[in-house]
Amino acid sequence: MFLKATKRIAALATAAAVSVQPLPALAQQPASVRLEVKANQPGSKISREIFGQFAEHLGSGIYGGIWVGPESPIHNVRGIRSDVVAALRAIRVPNVRWPGGCFGDNYHWRNGVGPRGQRPATLNPDWGGVIEPNSFGTHEYFDFLDQIGADAFISENIGSGSVQEGSDWFEYMTSDKPTTLAKERAANGHPTPYNVKYLGLGNESWGCGGAMSPDHYVEEMKRFARFTRNYNPAQQAPASAMKRIAVGWDGGNSDYTDAVMKAWKDKVWSWDLEGVSLHGYTIPNSWEKKGPSVGFGEDEYAKAIRATLNMKEWIARQSAIMDKYDPDRKVGLYVDEWGIWTDPNPGSNPGFLQQQNTLRDALIAALNLDIFMRNSDRVRGANIAQMINVLQAMILTDGPRMLVTPTYHVYRMYVPFQDATLISVSLDAGTYAYGDIRLPAVDAVAARDESGMLWLALVNVDPNRGAQIEASIEGLAARSASGEVLTAATVDAHNTFDRQNQVAPRHFIGRTSGGRLFFKLPPKSVAVVEVR
Ligand code: AHR
Repeated sequence: MFLKATKRIAALATAAAVSVQPLPALAQQPASVRLEVKANQPGSKISREIFGQFAEHLGSGIYGGIWVGPESPIHNVRGIRSDVVAALRAIRVPNVRWPGGCFGDNYHWRNGVGPRGQRPATLNPDWGGVIEPNSFGTHEYFDFLDQIGADAFISENIGSGSVQEGSDWFEYMTSDKPTTLAKERAANGHPTPYNVKYLGLGNESWGCGGAMSPDHYVEEMKRFARFTRNYNPAQQAPASAMKRIAVGWDGGNSDYTDAVMKAWKDKVWSWDLEGVSLHGYTIPNSWEKKGPSVGFGEDEYAKAIRATLNMKEWIARQSAIMDKYDPDRKVGLYVDEWGIWTDPNPGSNPGFLQQQNTLRDALIAALNLDIFMRNSDRVRGANIAQMINVLQAMILTDGPRMLVTPTYHVYRMYVPFQDATLISVSLDAGTYAYGDIRLPAVDAVAARDESGMLWLALVNVDPNRGAQIEASIEGLAARSASGEVLTAATVDAHNTFDRQNQVAPRHFIGRTSGGRLFFKLPPKSVAVVEVR
């Protein structure tokens, strides 16, 4: 099933590559954009957790994408494919949310521990109704995290699981005392306790997680927050303690965020929370007819960019509700599912959510990461949906073949922003206009990394017009500027298994004069610049 489906992706991707209609080439003068970087005005720290990933048991996100099994001819370490590990290490993934998504509220951890040959075959009713072999379970997940150097973010089953089941799972994973469960973990190959950095208390409990009313969810959530304990001795100090994230906004109204935050404010000593989640997808058209992932023109492009900028508003609204109960911003907002969601690749299993990934999607990734960075005083984490072969993926695989997508390149280019300090900027962004759509043409973020180096991230949304940037940097006479820029001939340009570098960043060098910095951003591009 998997192989057939992924072969179809490759075939479709190749077919799409020849049918793409380039946008009309309009020879327009570049727009002049003045950017002031207030290097003397440092803001909040940009949590590297906003570059988190999400890997659900969905389509070939896990099976084929990460897990090929120890006997596979594809090079692997203990069943985990090595090409994917190498690519993910390069983008310094901070954490991977697992096992769902909607699948998380169907997941029963006991099915995924013990000898693999004896694990039960279960069903994945939400995603294609396929068999879940349970070969990738708790130990395989932590092995994968170790291999890529990321932390654990476990989404607990509140919908169909019991408090006891969840509490046992966490004892199994984290106890250092020789309880029966901890001894079972040791017998299964891991004597030392696992470290679980994040606990997601259910997933979309207003929808696939059980369609609970906000009040009902809050009562359930409090019991899970109370009894899902992390016993790992290395996680007892406040700084290293596991962070608990409750379900928030349902995308339509904010009752969940309000109910959860009110409960948090009124809480008694026995339970606590460190985060509330927000799920926000970019849907170019409508849920019923989202739009294709390739072969679109400027109309679809402009609508998708407009839609993605809603993230700014969503964060502002949830943040304002949180401020009512938590003016000191102790509780973080975690955008633990986001990304562009298009129609599935024609011919693929619609339950597998397979879509191509284009230059447009790279711009969408950059614009959202910029929004998260600008809101880093409240947004403490984010997880793009999803890491491999599903929705806005970093990586696509086809049997032994693997490619990295335009979105992956943005994540690699943005590595210097992980744990950097936000620097205030002001700019006259100009306007990108298409029909009645009017959007800021240029987006910019600045930050200083831990070594003090200044970095700029810039996006030029306009697909027809370049932007001539002139940047002045308060408190710093720029001597040199260089970086990487990502662009391509068309907004729906993408990589295929046969042409893997259709969209790839290239190096560029800016010009400096009188302490100012000058460079040209091509139309429809993302750039990251290191300033010295
Ligand atoms: O990412 C795909 C699905 O989208 C997730 O399983 C669910 O949480 C959301 O609705």
